[in-house]
Amino acid sequence: MEDLVIVGAGGFGRETLDVVRAINDKEPTWRFLGFIDDNLSPANADRLSALGTPHLGGLAAAPEGAAVAVAIGDPSIRQAVVGALGGRHPFPALVHPTTVRGSELRHGVGLIVLGGVSLGTNVSLGDHVHLNAHAVVGHDVRLQDFVSVNPNATVSGECSVGSLTLLGAASTVLQGLAVGSEVTLGAAACLTKDAPDRATLVGVPAHPLERDKSQ
Ligand SMILES: CC(C)(COP(=O)(O)OP(=O)(O)OC[C@H]1O[C@@H](n2cnc3c(N)ncnc32)[C@H](O)[C@@H]1OP(=O)(O)O)[C@@H](O)C(=O)NCCC(=O)NCCS
Repeated sequence: MEDLVIVGAGGFGRETLDVVRAINDKEPTWRFLGFIDDNLSPANADRLSALGTPHLGGLAAAPEGAAVAVAIGDPSIRQAVVGALGGRHPFPALVHPTTVRGSELRHGVGLIVLGGVSLGTNVSLGDHVHLNAHAVVGHDVRLQDFVSVNPNATVSGECSVGSLTLLGAASTVLQGLAVGSEVTLGAAACLTKDAPDRATLVGVPAHPLERDKSQ
């Protein structure tokens, strides 16, 4: 058994604990030490108490040598936290046992996959990719570092998605598209064309989010 802490006591962090528990139910693998969170809200403190798990403190409290799961949903905050940890800890892949995996799956460090995810054949995932509950990642897809795929989102076959991009809940990326880096695809959007870097796109078909400049 290896020591493990989870950074981030929000919803995704606590769901990551469910992944750890599901893995341990199949085969005892992780000795879970507790949560690390620099900004623990009173509500999340109560939720950790209900789960019977400790809050160990801020980032500096990550025990020497322990594996760390950076379970922060926002890609850029996740990247900053990984940088602040400074390479002192291993970042394991935590994959829920219910995941349907195709052949030829390749991934980097820090992968977190919640329950019910489906991965096609020949999928390549970068470092610190998050696949939220029931996401679908099709065949021959490439997701670069720090991509987040939110619940029920679908990335169709032969797509590529750039680093730090967030695909919102129940969004769909149609087959063969190239999605840039730091893109946000809104919840329930359907992307039908390639997306440039840093775009925020919503709707069906997905189009740039226009903000009201009078406010
Ligand atoms: C697209 C998104 C990033 C925009 O967030 P934001 O910048 O905070 O935008 P706001 O909430 O201020 O909304 C701005 C406008 O966009 C609209 N809008 C927001 N999200 C939208 C969406 N997904 N689809 C269509 N329109 C949307 C709002 O209604 C609002 O319209 P208005 O100006 O006419 O009132 C966000 O709404 C979103 O969809 N995020 C993904 C959420 C998700 O996946 N949640 C699951 C977490 S596990």
